[in-house]
Amino acid sequence: NLIYVLNGPNLNLLGTREPEIYGTTTLDDIAGMLEDRARELGFEIEMRQTNHEGMLVDWLHEAQAEGARAVLLNAAAYTHTSIALLDAIKAIRTPVIEVHLSDPKTREPFRHLSYVGMAAAMTVEGHGADSYRIALEAVASGQV
Ligand code: DQA
Repeated sequence: NLIYVLNGPNLNLLGTREPEIYGTTTLDDIAGMLEDRARELGFEIEMRQTNHEGMLVDWLHEAQAEGARAVLLNAAAYTHTSIALLDAIKAIRTPVIEVHLSDPKTREPFRHLSYVGMAAAMTVEGHGADSYRIALEAVASGQV
């Protein structure tokens, strides 16, 4: 009952990065919160962050190879640019949930297009750190 939680560029700076948009919760805080909730729900979390696009592609392949139940993916800015991520999500059978802290659809127009969303099983956005928890609970409840 493994769930990969993959985080893209600049999310290592959560906590100090544009706190008026992303809040003051760090990625480590989110990891701790998710691990606790996952344990309650009978799941295990594999939490990662990278600033490199191809690393996210490799990790999506790995999630399938490891038999993960699902992937929670906050691809950050690559969400809006990466056909490679779109193709990777389509290339694996593991369901991917698109996650965002903010709601990109209410922000600059260049954030309105989501390549990740074109292939994701579900999108959870605009709930801050809670977006991750809501996505995890969607997997646990069998919604995804
Ligand atoms: C983000 C939204 C993206 O538009 C942005 O590039 C990020 C973070 C979010 O979680 O709100 O880096 O994915």
